[in-house]
Amino acid sequence: MIDMHSHCLPFVDDGADSVETSLAMLEDAKSKGADIVVATPHCVLRKQDMETFLRIRNESYNTICEIVNRDTQRYPKLLTGAEVFLGSDISEFEDLKKLCYEGTDYILLELSPVVSCSLLSEWIYNISITGLKPVIAHIDRFENYKRMKQELKGIDVVYQINAARFFGMFSGFAVKQIVEGYDKFIVSSDMHNLTTRKFNMHQAMRCAEKIVPHMCDMMFHAGAESMLFNNNF
Ligand SMILES: [Fe+2]
Repeated sequence: MIDMHSHCLPFVDDGADSVETSLAMLEDAKSKGADIVVATPHCVLRKQDMETFLRIRNESYNTICEIVNRDTQRYPKLLTGAEVFLGSDISEFEDLKKLCYEGTDYILLELSPVVSCSLLSEWIYNISITGLKPVIAHIDRFENYKRMKQELKGIDVVYQINAARFFGMFSGFAVKQIVEGYDKFIVSSDMHNLTTRKFNMHQAMRCAEKIVPHMCDMMFHAGAESMLFNNNF
């Protein structure tokens, strides 16, 4: 499995609160089948300048990587990205590409819940015409996901679903509704810690095999792999 959305770096955002927690989260993910984990700390460009964010993220990443790279049996491969908040038109920022998944043009966007779907789609379109490929973070958490998907028709986007969406009494119905009529989905953990929001993609995959068996490979591996090679899927 490839996890494209996680908050496993220490001292960067509301994710791992120590180096020990960070390493334990990564070890846990590996033991449950994650081959690659991408660290995607929260990035709010209007609150923090991009260079500061990148410096802090990279320092944290380098600290963890030094340990993780020494033991590939115990830890997954760790890559960098960012979860970029979309609360305004950020297409005007130069070097937005620096916030993409490393080595790619894919950028993970967290949609503001208080902005209209039409305005969000306009901003996403503006990002797409700069040559970047928008990935919509946890579309399942977005109340108006149906409207959002309609607004985004014609724009090449990837939708990310949180693994936790697959659990619960109505998960089958909910997931089927979300994926209906569109074909680019990935599932990620969005893990923040070892307790309330831990790695759970292995459980989600077992549920997905029953709910959307034809999409499992794309959702848990192939889609993310294409993205990391900067290919379409
Ligand atoms: Fe997140």
